[in-house]
Amino acid sequence: MALLPILRFPDVRLKKVAAPVTHIDDSIRKLAADMAETMYEAPGIGLAATQVDVHKRLIVIDTSEDKSDLRVFINPVLDSLEGSQTGEEGCLSVPGIYDKVERAERVTVHFLDLEGKKQSITTDGLLAVCIQHEIDHLDGIVFVDHLSQLKQVRIKSRLVKQSRVTA
Ligand code: NI
Repeated sequence: MALLPILRFPDVRLKKVAAPVTHIDDSIRKLAADMAETMYEAPGIGLAATQVDVHKRLIVIDTSEDKSDLRVFINPVLDSLEGSQTGEEGCLSVPGIYDKVERAERVTVHFLDLEGKKQSITTDGLLAVCIQHEIDHLDGIVFVDHLSQLKQVRIKSRLVKQSRVTA
């Protein structure tokens, strides 16, 4: 396994729309394993392939406290969205920034697993938020895109300054 570099907002590559995975083979399984390792190391609770500059529709999520519930979603599609919840979100591509985002409370998502089998889950709470946040990444959307223009400008300038200091 290997740690993968994570793109940082406002990198334009985060705006790319990812293509469906057409064939689930060892390279996809390795990508999922590397992404999981990268997510745990960061540490974070979700990572989309877009964030490691691979523009394929694959996300990994683990919302457990003890890294015991790794979930891999290939070609995830939201079938239904119900209710709403607003919680503070952060993102490994937007380090140090947290803000409130409104999401659906309950979602049903269908996807392929690492064996290429069709799966579907209905869930709510944090996992539902995480699924929506990561699918957004596959569509080129970062959570700050849901915030006001003024906040986006402030966040961009703050992160650009940070990268100048650390680069
Ligand atoms: Ni994110």
